Amino acid sequence: MDRALIRSFGRRVRLGMVGGGSDSIIGGTHLLALRADGYCELVAGAMSVQPEIALSSAQSQMIDRERAYTDWRVMLEREAERSDRIDAVVIATPPQLHFPIAKAFLECGIDVICEKPMTRDLAEAQELVHLVRDNNRIFCLTHCYSGFPMTRHARALIKQGAIGRVRMIDVIFAVGDPGTSVDPENPEDRHWRFRATSIGKASILGEVNSHAYHMAGFVTELKGQRVSAHLATFAKNREVFDNLYATVEFSDGAAGRFWSSYVAAGNDQGFSFVIIGETGQLRWSEEDPEYLWFKPIGGPAIRHSRGYDSNDPSATRHDRFRAGYAEGYGLAFANLYVDFAQAVMARQLGRPYREYLAILPSVEDGLSGMKFIEAATLSHEQGGRWVDCAPPN
Ligand SMILES: NC(=O)c1ccc[n+]([C@@H]2O[C@H](COP(=O)([O-])OP(=O)(O)OC[C@H]3O[C@@H](n4cnc5c(N)ncnc54)[C@H](O)[C@@H]3O)[C@@H](O)[C@H]2O)c1
Repeated sequence: MDRALIRSFGRRVRLGMVGGGSDSIIGGTHLLALRADGYCELVAGAMSVQPEIALSSAQSQMIDRERAYTDWRVMLEREAERSDRIDAVVIATPPQLHFPIAKAFLECGIDVICEKPMTRDLAEAQELVHLVRDNNRIFCLTHCYSGFPMTRHARALIKQGAIGRVRMIDVIFAVGDPGTSVDPENPEDRHWRFRATSIGKASILGEVNSHAYHMAGFVTELKGQRVSAHLATFAKNREVFDNLYATVEFSDGAAGRFWSSYVAAGNDQGFSFVIIGETGQLRWSEEDPEYLWFKPIGGPAIRHSRGYDSNDPSATRHDRFRAGYAEGYGLAFANLYVDFAQAVMARQLGRPYREYLAILPSVEDGLSGMKFIEAATLSHEQGGRWVDCAPPN
């Protein structure tokens, strides 16, 4: 890992976090990822909607008492006045809060790392694109699976023509652990993910399939054009859809198929893809993420492995351990933080910084994702009719 940039910068990138407290699921992953390589430090936080948890979470992360906040608006106001203010905010709240928080921080000149799904709807996503551009800020959407070295290598191999022109894109994100397969009787006991009131009935599209859809576009660099979707609800007491089958027409004539689910009983994470081209295929699974299988037509399968210098530079540049010492989910997530932090540092140093953002999930990716959600929902409501899902300009 090239440390020259942080030496020139002379300090770590200062982050503030909204959400991600000890009452959250994803907070711990962000805390590990942001610190993994020493590029970032957490110096401020409004880490929970519950004031005591916000304060105790900040305290447990060694955040100074005066920078432990119970309201993100107060955090923004106070941080904006400091000479050592945060460089960027991490938004790890439920999705309905992503837009107002991102908007407020962007307008104050603060860069943003935002959890997926990017916004509540397409209109918010369109506005967010303008906010990022108009305020000239750096924005990263944490589609963390694009941080795995082997998904980055897959993208590079496809670009180099290893499987020829892409014909079929098959992505599955079918979760099945007990926490997602069953909903409690009492609505108050249900996670917001399964409440229609928080992100709408099509939550499966935002919570799970947004990763799958981003991955399809990430590795192939093709764009969805039309979708035909079928949503269903299987779990007892469930307010939202918990299963999606979708067929997608991609640019360049490629055909895509998505299965996303909360009720794939017996599955753990269940995220994998197969990309088939004219001359071969690539296969990857998040449960065995150190390996990427390349199978040319008529030839033996080749197992690409993380940790080898022969991999594409996008896949090797953050390698920490030798091949065979698995890095896994937490460090894939950390790869996004390294790219983001390097962009922030280079930019503040007045150096070219866009190269660091080249394969990071962007606000435009978030817009494509929200367009897909809207189109797939409409398609389902109209009996699976084909609906345009091409990314808006
Ligand atoms: N990238 C991934 O792999 C991944 C995995 C899980 C969740 N997520 C996403 O991360 C986000 C959070 O998910 P989660 O599962 O951790 O949710 P969660 O409900 O477990 O945690 C949400 C956190 O936000 C806090 N919060 C809520 N309202 C707040 C407010 N007004 N001010 C400050 N904090 C507030 C809560 O107190 C809690 O700490 C969601 O958008 C989700 O889709 C992403």
